[in-house]
Amino acid sequence: MSQITLEPGHHRFACDAEESILTAALRAGLLIPYGCKSGACGSCKARILSGAVRHGPYQPTTLSAAELAEGKALLCVAHPEGEVTVEARDVRKAGDLVVKTMPCRIESLERATDDVMIVRFKLPANETLNYRAGQYIDFLLKDGKRRSFSIANPPHDAALIELHIRHTPGGFFTDRLFGVSTSPIKPRDILRFEGAHGSFFLREESTKPIVLVASGTGFAPIKALVEHALHIGSQRPMTLYWGGRRPKDLYLNDLAETWERAHPSLVRYVPVVSEATDVDAWGGRTGFVHRAVMADFPDLSGHQVYACGAPIVVDSARADFVSSCGLPEQEFFADSFTLAAATSS
Ligand SMILES: Cc1cc2nc3c(=O)[nH]c(=O)nc-3n(C[C@H](O)[C@H](O)[C@H](O)COP(=O)(O)OP(=O)(O)OC[C@H]3O[C@@H](n4cnc5c(N)ncnc54)[C@H](O)[C@@H]3O)c2cc1C
Ligand code: FES
Repeated sequence: MSQITLEPGHHRFACDAEESILTAALRAGLLIPYGCKSGACGSCKARILSGAVRHGPYQPTTLSAAELAEGKALLCVAHPEGEVTVEARDVRKAGDLVVKTMPCRIESLERATDDVMIVRFKLPANETLNYRAGQYIDFLLKDGKRRSFSIANPPHDAALIELHIRHTPGGFFTDRLFGVSTSPIKPRDILRFEGAHGSFFLREESTKPIVLVASGTGFAPIKALVEHALHIGSQRPMTLYWGGRRPKDLYLNDLAETWERAHPSLVRYVPVVSEATDVDAWGGRTGFVHRAVMADFPDLSGHQVYACGAPIVVDSARADFVSSCGLPEQEFFADSFTLAAATSS
């Protein structure tokens, strides 16, 4: 057992050699930025101020050799070797966000487009899921496999939990969901999940205007976040960019347009398509979604940005908004939809 000191705030907690510093921090009721929990997204990157850590497997692109030499670490896969002091980008108390494991029953499977399924599931009677809009759950599958999906509905409207799931061909879980496996998932099936997880949620203490960037099913947590912000009466202007390859990928385009019509002074919606064909007759914005943001907001120094979806979009947005548009790095919040199979079981 090692003692960890987490800065800022000088929080002290114990960490077993076999658990990650992130796991121990969460157990101690502390919330630091994280996403995939598997060394794939980089959200939990922190600085080791003193002591040493041993890393479990991670994607080399997430933590370069130079960063490692500078004392950076990925807390989700870093194990302490003795007493360690770590500095994270942000530390806050988890409050009432207790992570639970429970069964759930699939209520409906609705195809939003050829490769996106809207899944709704029900919790056991008398159970509730405490979460913040933007967080995600993990389905717990055979052989210790787990797969992460963001919750698409806000906590005030959570009679059923809604997920937007893209089919990853060859994927262990989504092949079952899309019925291309010998054990398809059907309505009324019981699955187990754990949640809620993640540090992607609205920073309600800020008054800065918000830019939201969704790519593909990255719309799911962004939807929860927008609906939550409207529900609490937030007066912060929100500009939502939703990118897809083809118009069909913007599978809830009408809903986003409805927000804009209902709240014209608060919500602006900009759909962006990167690979429209003649058949699509697309008359809207084209190209990469984060480039559209940069064209409209050359100065992001007074904004907060919330980005979700394909890792390439999230990584490009973070790098370019910070280096070219003056966005303070701590005002960029993201969940990168990394593939579980690439780093773990
Ligand atoms: C925090 C978070 C939130 C997310 N939220 C969402 C969401 O709301 N909606 C959504 O659609 N997605 C989301 N994702 C992404 C989703 O979790 C992944 O796409 C998930 O891995 C899909 O599960 P699967 O079992 O179908 O695919 P996997 O089994 O993980 O397979 C993925 C791909 O990897 C290949 N593969 C299999 N084994 C290996 C191996 N050993 N090495 C390399 N490649 C392999 C497969 O053939 C397949 O093409 C999220 C991810 C994270 C981290
Ligand atoms: S790399 Fe640690 S949470 Fe994603």
